[in-house]
Amino acid sequence: MNEKLSTPSNITIERKLNHVEICLHGNVSFEGKNTGFEHYSIEHQAVPEINYADINLTTTLLGRTIGSPLMISSMTGGYHEAATLNRQFAQAAEHFRIPLGVGSMRQALENNEHRESFAVVRKAAPSVPVFANIGAPEVAAGLEGSQIETMLDLIQADGLIVHINAAQELFQPEGNTNFHGFLDQLASLTAKTPVPVIAKEVGCGISGEAARLLIEAGVKVIDVAGAGGTSWQKVEEVRYTKRFGAENRFSPEGLDELLNWGIPTSECLSEISKLKKDHPQYQSIEIIASGGIRSGIDIAKAILLGASMAASAGMLLKALHEGKLLQTIELWLNDLKAVMFLTGSLSLEQLQTKRMTLKHRPTL
Ligand SMILES: Cc1cc2nc3c(=O)[nH]c(=O)nc-3n(C[C@H](O)[C@H](O)[C@H](O)COP(=O)(O)O)c2cc1C
Repeated sequence: MNEKLSTPSNITIERKLNHVEICLHGNVSFEGKNTGFEHYSIEHQAVPEINYADINLTTTLLGRTIGSPLMISSMTGGYHEAATLNRQFAQAAEHFRIPLGVGSMRQALENNEHRESFAVVRKAAPSVPVFANIGAPEVAAGLEGSQIETMLDLIQADGLIVHINAAQELFQPEGNTNFHGFLDQLASLTAKTPVPVIAKEVGCGISGEAARLLIEAGVKVIDVAGAGGTSWQKVEEVRYTKRFGAENRFSPEGLDELLNWGIPTSECLSEISKLKKDHPQYQSIEIIASGGIRSGIDIAKAILLGASMAASAGMLLKALHEGKLLQTIELWLNDLKAVMFLTGSLSLEQLQTKRMTLKHRPTL
């Protein structure tokens, strides 16, 4: 085995590089499971009584005003080429005045070789909320104050995202499946971190009950990252097979179910919105809808289901690769504005009060 590639830091670098390649060129979407947005229909308002030109997409996240209810999800950093991707994502975020997250900063905690690949984000996006990122296994193992400081300082972060990725770690060749003590460590992290902590999944979704545990541990925002878009089990299965061959870890039927494991994004939103309704003390908790966002219509439906905004990773990475990142975001925002016009909503607060019905679903 190549000695250079076997050190923990080089494995982290290689993994982040693999992730982008596999997400761009592999077949890693959920199959037989969608976000669930397709089951909803937003009610048309025949007499909108508004001027399209007056529609306003601005909103807030953690008290900061942002241009539109869309965030570029946490993706990359920690290797040389990631600086180019992060710079381009950051330039788009600054252009639309929308927030963005960087990928896991574990590599930056292992050594200082590629810290610039994270730091570029703040340089290219000086005026928008930018979020640091670290995984649940690192949190469960206990993060020191100096490590938290390093991550936040590198990008002058407005918040710290903790990604909770049990299924991804389970499928990852070098995955860390020790989540023992995570909630206690998360509570201590939220208590000592000087910026708000956001909890997110990576594509398997957060249920109402899981959200309650996370809120009780002190997180201020839940990004559901539900099923229907990128399957991280599939991404890691590609890496596993490449390294170890098609070694059967699960039965064929079990594997199929596990690769598509997770709670559809729309279901996560319904559950967490209900949790907020039932617990007035959780009113200030903000919900981000992500996992399989494919258009501005999805963003509108997410807002009607109680999210304050949406976020996207896989689709925006592909758009960037094709040189269409700005255009894609523009089109999604046009979709959203169309829905607002057709529901007579001048603002996102007004949109949130409109009606949406569940379409007929074929009986099983
Ligand atoms: C190339 C790539 C790398 C990612 N790396 C991270 C990461 O480091 N940290 C994280 O929280 N999520 C990461 N994600 C997960 C996304 O933020 C998102 O939660 C997930 O892909 C589901 O959203 P999607 O269906 O829009 O892709 C990554 C996604 C992509 C496409």
